[in-house]
Amino acid sequence: MAEALNPSLTRRDAARLLGAAAVAAAVAPQWAVRHVNVDALLRRLTLEEKVSLLHGGTDPASKGQAGYVPGVPRLGIPELRLADGPAGVRVTANATALPAPVALASTFAPDLARRFGAVIGREGRALGMDVLLSPMTNIVRVPQAGRNFETLGEDPLLAAALVAGEIRGIQGEGLIATVKHYAANNFENARQTIDVKVDERTLREIYLPAFEAAVRAGVGAVMAAYNHVNGVYAAEHPQLLTGILRDEWHFGGWVMSDWFATHSAAPALTAGMDMEMPFGANYRGLAAAVASGQLAESVVDTAVRRVLVQLDRFGLLGGGRPRPAPDPVGGARAAKEIALAGAVLLRNERDLLPLGRADLADLVVIGPTAASPLVGGGGSARVIPASAESPLTALRRQAGPGSRIRWATGVDLEGVPVPASALVLRRSRPGGSPQAAAQVDHTGADALPAGSSWTWTGTLTAPATGDYDLRIQGAGGVPSFNGSISLTLDGVRIGSAGALIGGNSSLIATSGGLTNAGATVRLEAGVAKPVTVAATGVAGTPLQVRLAWVTPQRRQEALREAAALAKGARAALVFAFNEGTEGADRAALTLPNGQDPVVEAVAAANARTAVVLNTGDPVLMPWARGVCSILQMWYPGQEGADATATLLLGGAGPGGKLPVTFPRRAEDMPTARPERYPGVDGVADYGEGVLVGYRHYDAHGIEPLFPFGHGLSYTRFRFGGLSVRAAAGGLAVSFTVANIGRRAGVEVAQVYLGPPPSPPVPMAPRALAGFARVRLSPGERRSVTVMVPLRSLQYWSDGRWTLAGGRRTVHVGSSSRDLRLRQEVTIR
Ligand code: BGC
Repeated sequence: MAEALNPSLTRRDAARLLGAAAVAAAVAPQWAVRHVNVDALLRRLTLEEKVSLLHGGTDPASKGQAGYVPGVPRLGIPELRLADGPAGVRVTANATALPAPVALASTFAPDLARRFGAVIGREGRALGMDVLLSPMTNIVRVPQAGRNFETLGEDPLLAAALVAGEIRGIQGEGLIATVKHYAANNFENARQTIDVKVDERTLREIYLPAFEAAVRAGVGAVMAAYNHVNGVYAAEHPQLLTGILRDEWHFGGWVMSDWFATHSAAPALTAGMDMEMPFGANYRGLAAAVASGQLAESVVDTAVRRVLVQLDRFGLLGGGRPRPAPDPVGGARAAKEIALAGAVLLRNERDLLPLGRADLADLVVIGPTAASPLVGGGGSARVIPASAESPLTALRRQAGPGSRIRWATGVDLEGVPVPASALVLRRSRPGGSPQAAAQVDHTGADALPAGSSWTWTGTLTAPATGDYDLRIQGAGGVPSFNGSISLTLDGVRIGSAGALIGGNSSLIATSGGLTNAGATVRLEAGVAKPVTVAATGVAGTPLQVRLAWVTPQRRQEALREAAALAKGARAALVFAFNEGTEGADRAALTLPNGQDPVVEAVAAANARTAVVLNTGDPVLMPWARGVCSILQMWYPGQEGADATATLLLGGAGPGGKLPVTFPRRAEDMPTARPERYPGVDGVADYGEGVLVGYRHYDAHGIEPLFPFGHGLSYTRFRFGGLSVRAAAGGLAVSFTVANIGRRAGVEVAQVYLGPPPSPPVPMAPRALAGFARVRLSPGERRSVTVMVPLRSLQYWSDGRWTLAGGRRTVHVGSSSRDLRLRQEVTIR
């Protein structure tokens, strides 16, 4: 049997999507629940108590989570703790850092999504949480959007299958999931205000299916997005929140706003937005609105009932239920398995990978993220694991005795302490008198006392004109919103570490484990610039602070060192990265920090060069044809190093597929026009319509660098024997997949559907209609049947789903551009 006959759809999904009776939006929890009478409970609540359940508040015993809703203890309604997020539980305590959701999407495996969810579900409950602010399932529309790593790719069918699996996993452990951000929240720049102009058909066919699948999977809560959709804030949008979510999809849970995304009280509540987060700036006024007759109390009751029904469903009202013990070992095991399964082999000329013994006897590894692991993306999805090995250490460990693996940074993100010769400084403590200081370099044994506070002020003077990376590095700062270890140059704060959700610190620590923040600035030779460093430490941990820089000269030296080391080695591995984070999009699709010249220099020095990518989304690769191999590891989580080394050494084979298209040139992107992204005068026109992601490249005949669905293997597969028949309103597509190589491997067979000859509306040349992840031993052949749901045969028109009948082509293949089998079918 195939790994699963039809892993893209559970039997239940299939029944629903194929047009059978709608499945009630409830998943029976696996634990015993003592239910209460919600209506009776509602009647006993005062108006003030009801309103207190409809907005967040300050947690008297915070665990560092994002949100808190006080309960009503006199009636047994518990307080709620709500934590991010998409790659693991984000609280102050350490938690399992799973691979970024984009890596999960690359697995094309709903069963792994369920496992991913179960790890977070259990751990969230164990860490004292009740609600998870995840999964995120906004479609990747803009290749450089800051949160692409947090979501499930550019295809609605793929995202829908995965989000449903993940929600079942999370909620199966008793944690309430929150699908976010509803809806059309597809990029970060101006996210709080942007008005998304999108037509109804595009919303229905591209941006809403994954949310609908989340509702079908029984998700307990929905988070309303920051942006406007067609002129109305998503968090007070009657059509989205009531018309579609409740009236059409029969969503039985509650809607909360994204953090500070509520803009009114009565209008938002009436539109269907039940809970304001994280505080109650607007909703605190609901009681007064009821008292003055502006708002019927029944509207408040409806919202409170939605919350209580979910608390009851999850057993939180009947006295609660015991929390499980954490399972860090199980979490780590799942994290590794998913990192392995989500890795995508983009290129492998001359079969350079996996590396052989001879390569390991003289291997050169280049890049900062080889030595300091890039575990996950930033912002509210950032999870701090107890530990994470570096890829370099994992490679050396797995390669064992007899190997020789040397490393050079190539790109210096760390620099050296700014020398005394460039500084004139005075250092002071609160209440103390200033004293002269030569440098700011207090690390290791020279750390400052725990809990102490310091300020250094003076000037910084560069010896030569050029672009300097000024870095403020530290540890032991008191957690704060703005960052407790900061660097200000010329009156502008350019570096802030120790901030609660990251400040502007890099996701990549220094080699000594310090947080590393800062900016690149142009300095003129001999011109003194005012500089201030401030640091406030937390009790119990020594305070480390260092002011460092990477000079233009050092940057060149690092590149030369890397190329020199690579020359003459048997093989070279370059680790390249980008840093995806919430709140801002990447300025460009290129790799940051001058990495392209380093890859080019290493590839020029060594003909056997492989690149390992730790990016959260597409990057341009001007050097792609100049290297033998490219392995996309994404942000692989806490076990990413072990998984990376295992794949590089052939202990496992890569079988992931790209859930996003990698363009060859920035101007090829569907959103290359400014009115589409970032928008003009506050409006982003989704004028590409349904031609999002690969649909755009296919429709316009643009050759991508790597297409959607692409991913090689260490073995090869042959497809054959296609047959298509009508089944349950949709299609059953059967074929065989054979492993014709010498290694075991995984193939994700993909089914795409073409439009009828004269499509009633503009349709993509091919749309993903199903998939199956199949693991095969050498020489093994399997029969696979993929169910194509009725929905894939339809388009949205005049307020309903309509069959796009006529002759249509079914394609089966290894990627959206590597289609091996085809058959015409007539759809009636
Ligand atoms: C993000 C949400 C997140 C929330 C709480 C917001 O800024 O957009 O995804 O869940 O913060 O941290």
